[in-house]
Amino acid sequence: MKVVTTKNGLKSILDTFRGEGRSIGLVPTMGALHEGHASLVRRSVRENDVTVVSVFVNPTQFNDKNDLKNYPRTLEADCVLLGKEGASVVFAPSVEEMYPEEDTRVFSFAPLDTVMEGACRPGHFNGVAQIVSKLFYAVEPDRAYFGEKDFQQLAIIREMVRQLELPLQIVPCPIVREADGLAMSSRNTLLSAEERERALTISRTLFSSLDYAKSNALDATMAFVEDAINATPGLELEYYRIVDGNTLQDISSWDESEYVVGCIALFCGKVRLIDNIVYKNN
Ligand code: PAF
Repeated sequence: MKVVTTKNGLKSILDTFRGEGRSIGLVPTMGALHEGHASLVRRSVRENDVTVVSVFVNPTQFNDKNDLKNYPRTLEADCVLLGKEGASVVFAPSVEEMYPEEDTRVFSFAPLDTVMEGACRPGHFNGVAQIVSKLFYAVEPDRAYFGEKDFQQLAIIREMVRQLELPLQIVPCPIVREADGLAMSSRNTLLSAEERERALTISRTLFSSLDYAKSNALDATMAFVEDAINATPGLELEYYRIVDGNTLQDISSWDESEYVVGCIALFCGKVRLIDNIVYKNN
């Protein structure tokens, strides 16, 4: 496994692979890797000849300076995991390498980016689109792998690929959960033992809401989730939306869409967590 920090270094390695006719998979990450990332890497290793994993904490997608400062950075441990999982190349550039000058590109993915994370974290998806498009241009992958935990991000990246007419396939990968149900996230390492326990309410509530939804209306199911979160001290709900899984717009009854997803964002102490659950995908 090679570790490179420059776009030129990356290009010369990948040109050789491409010259040999090998397919390239890309797994974009911000590091602090866990089993969720490992599952993306394994899938890419299965489906491509070469797997590139980028490890870059992208400043332009953070709308909160403290969140950027506190984001876990564990490159050495990340490389150990990636070596074990069979990645071929780790691309770990500096901020200056990715942004030699300010990126002034402004994307519009409306209405996908005007709701949920887009409404709560202004500029977040523009930053995601800036870095992911730069990574796509630098790697020119055949396939790129993204986790469904970041459900809205996945929809937006698909839309970006469509708008920019990029010749690659976006491969969505299922949420990976801890044995007790908590969705894996690099941010989980920031939780104290007590917060970690409280955070369990998120997945437990979402899974109970699947049952509840079988015999209750959509607005009652939303209230069921909101009430459970609001009743847990230490959790501060930012939003719970039940949306059409393609348009990400709110729906008001179960019959309104064939693809129905519930998306949640909340603070557990100072740590912001997201999760989602699919009610229906026919
Ligand atoms: O999902 C993430 O970790 C990041 O948003 C991504 C896609 C690596 C872009 O920085």
